[in-house]
Amino acid sequence: MHDHATALRRQGQSIGFVPTMGALHQGHLSLVQHSLRDNDATVVSIFVNPTQFDNPDDLAKYPRFVEKDLHALEQLDKNIIVYLPLAEDIYQGRVEADHYDFGGLEKVMEGAFRPGHFDGVATIVRKLFDIVQPHRAYFGEKDFQQLRIIQTLAQQLKDSIEIVPVEIYRENDGLAMSSRNLRLTPEHRGAAPFLYESLQKAREMAREGLPPAAIKEAIRSMYDQHPLLDLEYFEIADEENLQPATAFEPGKKYRGFLAVYAGDIRLIDNMALN
Ligand code: PAJ
Repeated sequence: MHDHATALRRQGQSIGFVPTMGALHQGHLSLVQHSLRDNDATVVSIFVNPTQFDNPDDLAKYPRFVEKDLHALEQLDKNIIVYLPLAEDIYQGRVEADHYDFGGLEKVMEGAFRPGHFDGVATIVRKLFDIVQPHRAYFGEKDFQQLRIIQTLAQQLKDSIEIVPVEIYRENDGLAMSSRNLRLTPEHRGAAPFLYESLQKAREMAREGLPPAAIKEAIRSMYDQHPLLDLEYFEIADEENLQPATAFEPGKKYRGFLAVYAGDIRLIDNMALN
């Protein structure tokens, strides 16, 4: 892959890169479509990265459908380059994450509830960037905190990779597409659009002028009353530094973020509030 990317660069071709963990859905494919539009060559990696899983059961049960993924990519464009590394190639016997400092971005929300997760993400993305040598890399706003961390990583690496954010792709009922949705029971799948509805509710309250504390209280009580979903956190944070907001300051952008358990399955979502 490294040699191939080097050859493409030498030919003056621009490389767009979409890192994934497979079980591809429309959300992933929308990132690929953006890359196809912007670049001469598009590389999609499929690698279930062990170092970013804080829960061994989640890693073991992560859906894997490589044949189906390859078919979906081929349908989209025959020239997509798919990179399917083995863990041995990537980690060479040392399956460990490096430690990163992202100035606090990594300490809140997913960082607080999934210790080590972003060290694992930054470690793999950095390794993949070194191999694929992209000009542009595409990340979904579905994982907004990950996107902000990768933007910061790219600045730290100084190899001038443009990080392109792509908006959240949702099912018709509002549920953000996720590989983990495949593991929901029919009952939990039926309940899952509540995440989107609760974020919309938060946005309405923000537009009505309620302060963050009152909105957080209202959203938590919505989940307290829900028979099937357990809220892990609901946070309102500044889009830039991801620190929890105590007030909506003019000129700044805020987002609502949540993590919810539907049975054993952990779902995340977020939405711009202003
Ligand atoms: P994965 O969960 O497979 O997601 C790959 C990319 O697809 C991420 O940038 C994610 O934000 C984006 N994505 C997922 N669902 C989306 C949706 N509904 N709408 C828009 N974009 C969506 O994120 C990872 O893999 C890994 O952490 C990775 C970056 C590959 C590192 O291992």
